Amino acid sequence: MGWLKGLRKRKIPERADLGISRQEPKDNFRLVEKYYVSNPHAQILVYQDPDQASLRYFIDEAVLDEDELIVHDKLTKIVSKELEPPTDLDVDPAAYVREQVQLLSHKYRRSIGKISDENWSKVLYYIVRDIAGYGPLDPMLRDPNIEDISCNGLLTPVFVWHRKYESIPTNLSFTDDRIYNDFIIKLAHKGEKHISSAHPILDAALPEKHRLAATFQKEVSTHGSSFCIRKFREDPLSIIDLINLGTLSPKLAAYFWMLLEHRMNFLILGGTGAGKTSMLNALLSLVPPNDKVITVEEVAELNPPHQNWVPLVSRKGFIFGQTGGASIDLFDLVKLTLRYRPDYIVVGEVRGEEAFTLFQAIATGHGGICTMHSDSLDHAVKRFTSEPMNIAKIYIPMMNISMHISRVELPYEREGLRFGRRTRNVWEIEDFEKYVEISRWNPTTDTFNVDLTKSIKLKHISELKGVRLEAILEEIEKREKLLTELASINVRDQKEVVIKLQEYKKTGRSDLSEGAINNLKESTVTIKGRSYRIWRHPKGAIDPETGKKIGGRIARRGG
Ligand SMILES: Nc1ncnc2c1ncn2[C@@H]1O[C@H](COP(=O)(O)OP(=O)(O)OP(=O)(O)O)[C@@H](O)[C@H]1O
Ligand SMILES: [Mg+2]
Repeated sequence: MGWLKGLRKRKIPERADLGISRQEPKDNFRLVEKYYVSNPHAQILVYQDPDQASLRYFIDEAVLDEDELIVHDKLTKIVSKELEPPTDLDVDPAAYVREQVQLLSHKYRRSIGKISDENWSKVLYYIVRDIAGYGPLDPMLRDPNIEDISCNGLLTPVFVWHRKYESIPTNLSFTDDRIYNDFIIKLAHKGEKHISSAHPILDAALPEKHRLAATFQKEVSTHGSSFCIRKFREDPLSIIDLINLGTLSPKLAAYFWMLLEHRMNFLILGGTGAGKTSMLNALLSLVPPNDKVITVEEVAELNPPHQNWVPLVSRKGFIFGQTGGASIDLFDLVKLTLRYRPDYIVVGEVRGEEAFTLFQAIATGHGGICTMHSDSLDHAVKRFTSEPMNIAKIYIPMMNISMHISRVELPYEREGLRFGRRTRNVWEIEDFEKYVEISRWNPTTDTFNVDLTKSIKLKHISELKGVRLEAILEEIEKREKLLTELASINVRDQKEVVIKLQEYKKTGRSDLSEGAINNLKESTVTIKGRSYRIWRHPKGAIDPETGKKIGGRIARRGG
């Protein structure tokens, strides 16, 4: 009977990822790309599935062998009983858990038993992933290529939105109702919110500022619980990033800069995930740095570089058995901003009656920028002028500029991508239903047709300043060259960009390189019947970063 004793002692361990099924790639799948998201424990493999003519996203994590699983289970039990919450709330949770687990494993080394360094690092990976991270979804959250992660129910694959491949299914699916619901409850708790059958819908911000939307069981979603995590970029896209990504041209950016300096009001339109908030955030770096900026949002996403910045975030009240108790919505906050005497009021997204207050604010001389979920300016204006926004038609031209951003298919690959976000149109709003199109994106050449000579707002600025319109246009051209140069040498960090723009404002020139930006030589080249504008560095220019000669080289291609 000795063998039975051994078996009892060596109990079959629990699997690390219960309630999750992981599909393996089939033999005929072709590997497209692979990269680590946590070296050496988790890598991503993107496969082409010839049967479905589609791409698949596979997470390949180090597998725990039986001995490692035993250590993993013992440690998980110890940690769940003994781990104390950190006293310092600013501590990095992953680093804290790693340190504490190491201490606990030392304390309980006798009962845990011996384990090699390599095996130990695998076990530690799983414990940190499950306690401080997002469990089996952790590799997707670590993958910088992923914009959002969603799951529509049990036994269906979790989907990701990949920067290069758009929406693709992963090899993971939840298979157990209880574990899936527990996972969603845990997500809600991470966002400091609550989800249950009584409160089955949730909109929350996760600690890393990712946005979480979820539904619980079959209360409101017939396929059962669902969730969608929209990932937050720690390092937000700056105006220079947007130029380099081709979302707008340097000329458009220079035009926006001029308008924002004169407190013009902007409305950014687009569909879900079109890049409205990113554009809004990038535009804020063009607002004069001494302006007082107030941002009003439902979930904090914006991060203007201004010192004089008041961030306001709405809140949903939560009183058991009651709805709406102690709620503070965007409308309350926009009303409040007026008492703060801001230069610019920035509303993350207008949806309801807060739009009315925003228009009142801009009618009384404050600057206003907002985004709106809409696919055309006509629809947006219709919504503005009907319930619940109810804005009078005569107020509509107070919103001076509108732009429409969308995700588009590109005519040819750009840095390996077939998809991109483009500012499809920019209009100046002259009057109700009277718009002047300043820019239109050309989908066959991926270039922007910008005509600033049509601008009524620039004309207005020139009259206000008592200078000729040509002088304003010349100044915009100078700024276009500055932005072009910044993009070509990739000065992209939002703060750095602001410093460079300010240097330019003070001196009228920038000290970017020996070949000052205003010396970039512009010309047009024709390749395969298509015309491109290019800017070359002047003779003898030196790259300030590398010290190498760059005279004559192309600094930038543009539309
Ligand atoms: N110009 C761009 N080029 C490439 N990626 C971008 C661009 N703009 C935004 N993104 C990425 O697209 C995702 C969605 O962006 P963003 O939140 O700005 O869109 P949105 O239109 O505000 O979405 P929502 O409808 O949820 O408000 C983010 O992951 C962001 O990093
Ligand atoms: Mg947004």
